[in-house]
Amino acid sequence: KKLIIINGPNLNLLGKREPQIYGSLTFKEFFETIKEKYPQVSLEHYQSNVEGELINKIQDVGFSYDGIILNAAAYTHTSVGIGDAVAAIETPVVEVHISNTFNREDFRHQSYVAPNAKGIIVGFGLQSYELAIQSFLK
Ligand code: DQA
Repeated sequence: KKLIIINGPNLNLLGKREPQIYGSLTFKEFFETIKEKYPQVSLEHYQSNVEGELINKIQDVGFSYDGIILNAAAYTHTSVGIGDAVAAIETPVVEVHISNTFNREDFRHQSYVAPNAKGIIVGFGLQSYELAIQSFLK
């Protein structure tokens, strides 16, 4: 299986960004352990703080990869463009969030990704990404 994790804005700061919410592990540290744990998966990672770059990446991989694990971060709640990109592609998208967006501010309850996602995993910390990987394995 060929999967990619696409992370949106500010997720490059994982480990030092609001650690009480997002934990103290960097994404690089987490990604190394997850790659070792699932050697049968071809797993890539892409991060950008730029909305259009995220859309370009979704389009680039969206007709050939087996799955996209998308944490669009704040753009989840604002970006019609990212929502449209997810609707436009063929590769199934699993939406993930580290925090439980539904027990936070109201503006985080809205998602432009969710209507076209295969499924949604929120609130399990970095384990949300691992659960999304497992959802593609069978
Ligand atoms: C997040 C939740 C979003 O509301 C927030 O803007 C983020 C991270 C999460 O993974 O919990 O940047 O997507």
